[in-house]
Amino acid sequence: MTLRAVILGTGSALPKHRVSNDELAQRVDTSDEWIVARTGIRFRHIAGEGETTATLGADAAAKALDAAGVDAASIDLIILATATPDQTFPASATKVQAMLGINDCIAFDVAAVCSGFLYALSVADAMIRAGNVKRALVIGSETFSRILDWEDRTTCVLFGDGAGAVVLEGQDGETGILSTSLHADGRHNELLYVDGGPSTTGTVGHVRMKGSEVFRHAVVNLATVLGEVLDTAGLTPQDVDWVVPHQANARILDATARKLGLSKDQIVVTVDQHANTSAASVPLALDTAVRDGRIQRGQLLVLEAMGGGFTWGAAAIRY
Ligand code: UT7
Repeated sequence: MTLRAVILGTGSALPKHRVSNDELAQRVDTSDEWIVARTGIRFRHIAGEGETTATLGADAAAKALDAAGVDAASIDLIILATATPDQTFPASATKVQAMLGINDCIAFDVAAVCSGFLYALSVADAMIRAGNVKRALVIGSETFSRILDWEDRTTCVLFGDGAGAVVLEGQDGETGILSTSLHADGRHNELLYVDGGPSTTGTVGHVRMKGSEVFRHAVVNLATVLGEVLDTAGLTPQDVDWVVPHQANARILDATARKLGLSKDQIVVTVDQHANTSAASVPLALDTAVRDGRIQRGQLLVLEAMGGGFTWGAAAIRY
């Protein structure tokens, strides 16, 4: 028998305030037509007063615990992926831990921007398979609206806020996370970054991106890393039921599907409703497709993401 990290339940949370492209066009020189044609985005949710990375993360985690049917007190590990923590420290994972009423477990954040959820999932999987922990909460949560330059039309129309979470449990069998693959290449720091930070400017800074260059790298890296996780698991693209991708741009999703020879109908697309929610986008898309019944138990899922750093990664999961 093989010990694997099985997804017991999923959850997600979105800020109350939903903003359309037309509303953004009243603030910056853009249009619904340009945003839809270039990105597929129609709406994004923007955090309001009292809504933070930790509160959204805790809401998503509570829903995942409920779906899993397990008590918060049984969680041994919380990993929260974010580039927009509530504070520089403590880790937002510890704030979520307190909000869930968990008094003692391992809790930390990971910073891998849009790939953060894949990084967090991979670390939790390794800790479960090593026998360090039995149950884990893996959360992606972001409030990118707070690090956007709302005067910069090349970035502010692309991102949104939200959170997604999964409860993992170590179980013997053939279900669960089959393989993961992570990469980083710091030579590309300047293509997608924030122009501030505690150790440089002492400010939070704003997102800066050379979008077309990121796009080019994304299509190549994502197709390659998806091939890697399938190879490691002894599977082929024909075995895949659903791709649950990072939701940056509908055109990247189409191009990646084409490269792998997959149908567009096998890609879970939520970028139209959520925009790019960075580390939250993969678990938000996963929860959406689980709850609307598209994703069924026993199916083969591949998750993938690419973001600032660059960082990128993927996971193959028998759900
Ligand atoms: O999550 C991490 C990973 N991130 C990504 O994967 C993002 C990858 N990149 C992209 O999704 C696309 O590159 C963007 C959506 C960011 C941009 O699309 P593009 O087709 O690469 O456009 P572009 O940057 O080459 O800009 C084309 C034109 C420019 O005008 P000129 O120079 O051709 O006159 C821009 O100034 O579109 C203009 N433009 C806009 N026009 C209206 C840029 N932003 C806007 C805007 N509204 N919001």
